[in-house]
Amino acid sequence: MAERGVIDEPPAFDKPKVELHVHLDGAIRIETIMDVAKRRGISLPAITVEGMTSLVTVPEPSTLTEFLGKFSEFMHVIAGDREAIKRIAYEFVETKAKEGVVYVEVRYSPHFLANSNVDPIPWNQKEGDVTPDEVVNLVNQGLKEGEKDFKTKARSILCCMRHMPNWSMDVVELCKKYRNDGVVAIDLAGDESLDCTANIGHLNAYKEAVRSGIHRTVHAGEVGSPSVVREAVEVLKAERIGHGYHTIEDEVLYKQLLEDQMHFEICPVSSRLTGACDPDFTKHPLIRFKEDNANYSLNTDDPTIFNSTLDSDYQTAKKEMGFTEDDFKKLNLNAAKSCFLPEKEKKDLLNQLYEAYDMVNDTSF
Ligand code: NI
Repeated sequence: MAERGVIDEPPAFDKPKVELHVHLDGAIRIETIMDVAKRRGISLPAITVEGMTSLVTVPEPSTLTEFLGKFSEFMHVIAGDREAIKRIAYEFVETKAKEGVVYVEVRYSPHFLANSNVDPIPWNQKEGDVTPDEVVNLVNQGLKEGEKDFKTKARSILCCMRHMPNWSMDVVELCKKYRNDGVVAIDLAGDESLDCTANIGHLNAYKEAVRSGIHRTVHAGEVGSPSVVREAVEVLKAERIGHGYHTIEDEVLYKQLLEDQMHFEICPVSSRLTGACDPDFTKHPLIRFKEDNANYSLNTDDPTIFNSTLDSDYQTAKKEMGFTEDDFKKLNLNAAKSCFLPEKEKKDLLNQLYEAYDMVNDTSF
């Protein structure tokens, strides 16, 4: 697997790419965390980039719980700080442009970056005056400036958190408010062992999303059972599934989703390091997805925590699962077809890829 900073190896797929599953707060530069901490007078447990990197990264297969714990090492530095929130969004687009991503959908919980109008106030912050609404505005500004400077198109997805059902109606209202200003969908993230149908907050938010035409994705079947995927599709009306690895344990559901061409947002490096999948990549569900011609994309999920880049995921697919150039073209076309852009913009994106892949007159894909 390619490590960040290794430059002697050519990228596994050196053509325009589309990324659909990446968390803004899991893609912050360590240098930025240290820089902001210094400006704000916040002391960190490490004083070098190397030291901080080893604190926030998961180098070996671990658990989703340990992984989620990493965020508490740095989120208090960025949350509630206007300049920092805008900066991480701007720098995110720069990073994606360097990775050859032409279109990205980046997700985050506006509440996790706020310190006002949020209950409870996250990360032990003191109450301030940055609301979830302003967070969305700041991220939008950063993404827009990034898009202008680096030519990578960036849209956002707002996350509900499974353990915070009281935030979810807020999230869907923010999706509606900013639907013409860069926000394209709603997501549900967090601990899958929590039964979300029991939490009327998530259910009502997704109902409202359906009613008002807001696109929907849900983290499901990452570490959780196929029943979480079924619930995402049948109850929450998800149009895409975040991860979905464990879907294949329920053949009936899996066949149904294949037929429906459900899009799976696959994150190979993430799935190994969070313990979601067997660390042996030759047993990875992605191999089955590929054999069955499923609709999926390749994504980083949380590159800061995994110390990875998008190329790490492509290298993994190439070296451990035999992915070819044609496989990469196909999955990126599927990502473009399954993205949450309006139809006209989606068509433009697809045409951009067909052209870059020399496939303008190729109808085999
Ligand atoms: Ni995720």
